[in-house]
Amino acid sequence: MNQQEHKKGLPFFGIGKILPFLKKFRRNLILMVTCGLMGSLVDIILPLFRRYALDHYVGNQTMDTIFLFVILYAVTVVFAGIANYISCSLATITEVSVNRDLRETAFRHLQTLSFSYFNQNSVGYIHARVMSDTSRIGSLASWTLMDSVWHISYLVGSAAVMISLNARLAGLVLLILPVLVVLFSFFQKKLIRVNREVREINSRITGNFNEGITGAKTIKSLAIEDEMSQRFMAETSNMRRRSISASRLRGVFAATMNFAASIALAIVLWKGGYIAESEVGTFSAFMSYAQGMMEPVRWIIDAISDLITTQVNIERFSNLLAVQSDVIDTPQVIAKYGDILEPKKENWEPIRGDIEFKDVTFRYPDGDEDVLEHFSLKIPFGSHIAIVGETGAGKSTLVNLVCRFYEPTTGQLLIDGRDARERSQLWLHSSIGYVLQTPHLFSGTIRENLLMGKPDATEEEIWAAVKAVSADEVIAHLENGLDTDVGEGGDLLSTGEKQLISFARAVLADPRILILDEATASVDTITEAKIQAALDSVTQGRTSLMIAHRLSTVRNADLILVVRNGKIVEQGTHKELIRMRGYYYELYTRQYEDEATAQLLA
Ligand SMILES: Nc1ncnc2c1ncn2[C@@H]1O[C@H](COP(=O)(O)OP(=O)(O)OP(=O)(O)O)[C@@H](O)[C@H]1O
Ligand SMILES: [Mg+2]
Repeated sequence: MNQQEHKKGLPFFGIGKILPFLKKFRRNLILMVTCGLMGSLVDIILPLFRRYALDHYVGNQTMDTIFLFVILYAVTVVFAGIANYISCSLATITEVSVNRDLRETAFRHLQTLSFSYFNQNSVGYIHARVMSDTSRIGSLASWTLMDSVWHISYLVGSAAVMISLNARLAGLVLLILPVLVVLFSFFQKKLIRVNREVREINSRITGNFNEGITGAKTIKSLAIEDEMSQRFMAETSNMRRRSISASRLRGVFAATMNFAASIALAIVLWKGGYIAESEVGTFSAFMSYAQGMMEPVRWIIDAISDLITTQVNIERFSNLLAVQSDVIDTPQVIAKYGDILEPKKENWEPIRGDIEFKDVTFRYPDGDEDVLEHFSLKIPFGSHIAIVGETGAGKSTLVNLVCRFYEPTTGQLLIDGRDARERSQLWLHSSIGYVLQTPHLFSGTIRENLLMGKPDATEEEIWAAVKAVSADEVIAHLENGLDTDVGEGGDLLSTGEKQLISFARAVLADPRILILDEATASVDTITEAKIQAALDSVTQGRTSLMIAHRLSTVRNADLILVVRNGKIVEQGTHKELIRMRGYYYELYTRQYEDEATAQLLA
């Protein structure tokens, strides 16, 4: 077995990966563990107090020490209370702080990842890593740690006290420990299994429920309400059955625990003869310890399984942090231009806006075919480029490369004559305005969304941008104007409205490179015509790339790229392409005929 395998075999190996996150809380943790130890020490001492009281004060003798006894007892109890308070508070503080740190780290890391990561991993998966994995790790580092210390020290301490009081009886009582371990492990395995089943069904139910809500319209339009309800009901009935059997199992487990405790007590009662008659106190102490052993044993077994299952959370979480973006800035670039968190804007040279594809071949990281092959194109600053072609032809891919959301598999993308990789992603992104095919707004008001493009924009600038894209009429119709709440993801607005707002946001930022991916696909033809008219001024002084399905909207472009199956099959101005009588001509006449027919039918 080599070193690596050996390490993998160790059940708690992964814990090491979260140690760096705990370093900061070292003092907290040490104090927490110390207070936990104190608490368990008091738990061990209290039966000894009773023992003393029984042996010295019951039915007799001298009561002269009673005053001191009461004081000592009171001090111990108060001390236990304080230790308890401190350890619990520290555990809570550690838990929430570790959670926060882990989540913050994960969130920051996610910001650095490239598009391909988000394409390959579902939102649900990422959400679970950031929320539930971190919360399990947080509670492991706080409560599980403290409770383990408490319970282990209680077991060891009480065993030691029992042995010192009466070794023979202690030996007998402790014999029950292995039995307990076997018994609890048995139940625990079963419990974990049923609990997991219940959880799985529960998540399926949540999933069904979510689909039922988010897909409500589709469900109705397909008239499959009945099937969806049947599916949902089957799961909930299943859930009911499993939950009942889980709670039965828990009941049997609790009863078995009580039974085991009774056996321990029975041993003490039965073999109580080992204790001298005068030592009633010792007898009582044994009773307490014998009973007190149940909980820690159960707890330690729980903690061990917790440790094992949390391994998976730690593993997945550290894998998330280990994911490297496909697009990264080199250390030299970061040294000069800074990174996302600390940009060194003073070193950024102003961008002009020349773009050049130099023999670019591109394949998506998870794709099995080249989307672009040996593609070269110079786009000088200020030109207005249109990209047209069928669905799935590779238009969005082309602009994703310009934005450096992906990098060429081979070849180069030059910005202002220099390889894009020589400068930071942020440098490029801060000069690009991109109106996405699927517009996204953030929850908040329209104004807040617009200001994301330019936080210090004045009211005039905002309105100028809004007017430039003809969003002013839409906004005027909304009750609160610019201060209208757009809802989560902008879902309170129509797709066309979202498109206009995100367009205005891009324009407000005054980017050197403007990218419009079907930016007007969801607005009505009248609004589109208005935007079209304003486009000349919007694109003035910028390099613009505009993807459009409606070919009538690209006639004025300086250059039209016609994409087919990932290749640029034709390029030129509208007139040139029409004259060529090729693919563009075909697309154009077909669309023109369709539109003409539609107009006639209207
Ligand atoms: N993230 C991805 N991973 C793998 N393949 C992808 C990815 N995104 C797109 N593709 C593939 O690349 C090709 C080009 O996609 P692209 O999104 O560029 O098309 P498009 O021309 O913008 O289409 P549309 O007009 O529908 O927006 C398609 O065949 C698509 O399946
Ligand atoms: Mg597209």
